[in-house]
Amino acid sequence: MSDPSAPYLDDLPPLDGPAPIGARDAPPGRRNARAILAVLRELVPGAAGPEHGAATLLEIGSGPGLHAAAFAEPLAPLRWLPTDHAADNHGSILAWSESIPQGRARPLAPRVLDAGAPDTWPVDATDSVRVIFSANVIHIAPWPVALGLFDGAGRVLPKGGLLMLYGPFRRHGAFTGDGDVAFQDWLLSLDPRNGVRDLDGEVIPAAAAHGLVFDHARPMPANNLMVVLRKD
Ligand SMILES: C[S@@+](CC[C@H](N)C(=O)[O-])C[C@H]1O[C@@H](n2cnc3c(N)ncnc32)[C@H](O)[C@@H]1O
Repeated sequence: MSDPSAPYLDDLPPLDGPAPIGARDAPPGRRNARAILAVLRELVPGAAGPEHGAATLLEIGSGPGLHAAAFAEPLAPLRWLPTDHAADNHGSILAWSESIPQGRARPLAPRVLDAGAPDTWPVDATDSVRVIFSANVIHIAPWPVALGLFDGAGRVLPKGGLLMLYGPFRRHGAFTGDGDVAFQDWLLSLDPRNGVRDLDGEVIPAAAAHGLVFDHARPMPANNLMVVLRKD
């Protein structure tokens, strides 16, 4: 059944209708899609460089796959590569993708990628990954997953490539919004190794250890940030 709180985005197919059969819907993913796409449209082409058409954006933790399906066409000819460590998400990723009419840009086939195991990432130089995007992952996974993500991104991205992290963050150790403490309690109830990460004390230094320099953090709706790190 469709969720009335999930907006149909008439200008952003396939989010202009209900989830296709076999796909999971994600009302928060629909709600934040326009704002995320605006930032990707602004930053990704520059990072992809003149070889735009041969470059790939690697998405980590694609979940149901509706971002991949909605963003592949607006960012084409860049290729969008969805991944998730949970292979049972891949059916939903494919169902969203296959709902895009033939002839329009679709995401690449999803791959299994465990952010926390960078030695096993299923990408190589032929993929030409220029941008890595990960939304709502590092707070809902143990901290070593974030460390693995920084390690892998540091290896895969070329100089000037971007790692873009969307989600909630603490700043200088402090929560920044009214609902954040309750959200943290909920995350910890799922797994005590989860937690909203501190951008200044945790994320920026850990990423820097892998050659990823903090560029900026952009305020996003619902008290989220888009954190932009650039490979040195
Ligand atoms: C809250 S969902 C976010 C989904 C989507 N990116 C979004 O914003 O709607 C978190 C996703 O991270 C994935 N994930 C968790 N641990 C991971 C890991 N170690 N490697 C890759 N993906 C992981 C989960 O399977 C899940 O799909």
